[in-house]
Amino acid sequence: MKVLVTGGAGFVGSHTVVELVAAGHEVQVVENFCNSERWIVERIERITGKALALDEVDIRDRAALLGSLQRFQPDAVIHFAALKSVSESAERPADYYDVNVAGTATLLDVMDQVGCHRIVFSSSATVYGQPDACPVAETAPVGPGNPYGRTKLIGEWLIRDCVAAPGAALHAAILRYFNPVGAHPSGLIGELPRGVPNNLAPYITQTAAGQRDYIRVFGNDYATPDGTGVRDYIHVVDLAKAHVAALGALGGRRERDLTLNLGTGRGYSVLELIETFATVVGKPIPYQLQGRRAGDIGECWADPSLANEVLGWRAEESLQDICTDAWRWQMNVAGQAG
Ligand code: UFG
Repeated sequence: MKVLVTGGAGFVGSHTVVELVAAGHEVQVVENFCNSERWIVERIERITGKALALDEVDIRDRAALLGSLQRFQPDAVIHFAALKSVSESAERPADYYDVNVAGTATLLDVMDQVGCHRIVFSSSATVYGQPDACPVAETAPVGPGNPYGRTKLIGEWLIRDCVAAPGAALHAAILRYFNPVGAHPSGLIGELPRGVPNNLAPYITQTAAGQRDYIRVFGNDYATPDGTGVRDYIHVVDLAKAHVAALGALGGRRERDLTLNLGTGRGYSVLELIETFATVVGKPIPYQLQGRRAGDIGECWADPSLANEVLGWRAEESLQDICTDAWRWQMNVAGQAG
C-alpha cells in the first residue's frame, strides 16, 4: 500500500515508518521538523536499508500538502503531525488548535480532493480525562482536562463527522495511545524531548545518565498501591506495529470508523518504573517525593481488548524491554547526537 505519514520523523511516527517499510509498504513522509530532527530520517534509512521519500511541508500549508498528495497518490494516510505537550498547550492554546485541529481539517480536505479515503489518526488516552474506573474501555466517557487533549478529541470528532458525511467514502482508525515509551532496539531512533522533559521516562533516563540531579516524583498520596501515579506504559515498537495492523483493518469492516485503545492493559507506578530502570542501568537512580503535579490523575490504564480482537494485535514487550531499549537509546543520544 502507498502510505503517506505526516510527522514521520517524530517519536511514534519514526518507529511506525520503520514498521511500515518492514511490512512492504511504500512510504512518503510529510514533516516540518518543528519538534523532530533531520538526522532521524537518515537513521530510519539505516534501519530499513531503503531511501525514505520526504516532503518538508507544514500540514497547514494547503497548497504544499495538496502537491505532496497529488504527486504521491497515497492509498492511506497515517496522521501523526501535531503539537503534543500538555503544559505548553495551556500556554499557547491557539497554536495547538491551529496545528492539531485546523491542520487535521486541511489534511482531510486535501485527502478528499485527491480521492484518498483511509486515515489512521494519532489520538490519546488524554481524551478520557480523569477516568471513573480502570481499565478504561473505548466506551468510557470523554472529558479531557487540558487544551492538548481537547484538540485531540476535536480531531476525533472531525474525522467521525467526515466519515458520516453524505456520500463520503472515508474509513478511519482513531488510535488512543496510553503512555508511549521505549525506543527502537537498534538504539538508532527514540524519543527526543527538547529541553527539560515533561514526561517521566525520558526524565528517568536523563537522570540515570547524569544529565539531571534527581527525578521529582509528583505525588505519593494517590489511591494506588504505593501512592504514586499509575500508567499504562507501552513500548513504541508495539504501538508502531498496531498502526500497520490498523491499516490492514481499514476498509475490511462494515463500520467505517474504528476507535481503539492502544495500551498493554497493565499499570505500573512511578516508583516501579524507576526501580525497573535502576535494575537495567545497574545502579540506583536518585528521586525525591514531591507534591502532586497540577492536572495529573492517579491512575490510568487501558482495556485494550477491542484492539486485540479487531487488529489481531497485542503489546508484547515487557517493562524490562522498555527500559533496556530506552537506556540503549539514551546512551547513543548522549554519546553521538548530543
Ligand atoms: N511524573 C513524575 N515526575 C516527572 C514526570 C512525571 O512523577 O518528572 C509522573 C506523573 O505524575 C505521572 C507519571 O509520572 O504519574 C507519568 O507522567 P508523564 O508525564 O510521563 O505522562 P502522563 O500520563 O502525565 O501524560 C502522558 C502524555 C500525554 C498524554 C497522556 C495520555 O504525556 O501527552 O499520557 O494519558 F496525553
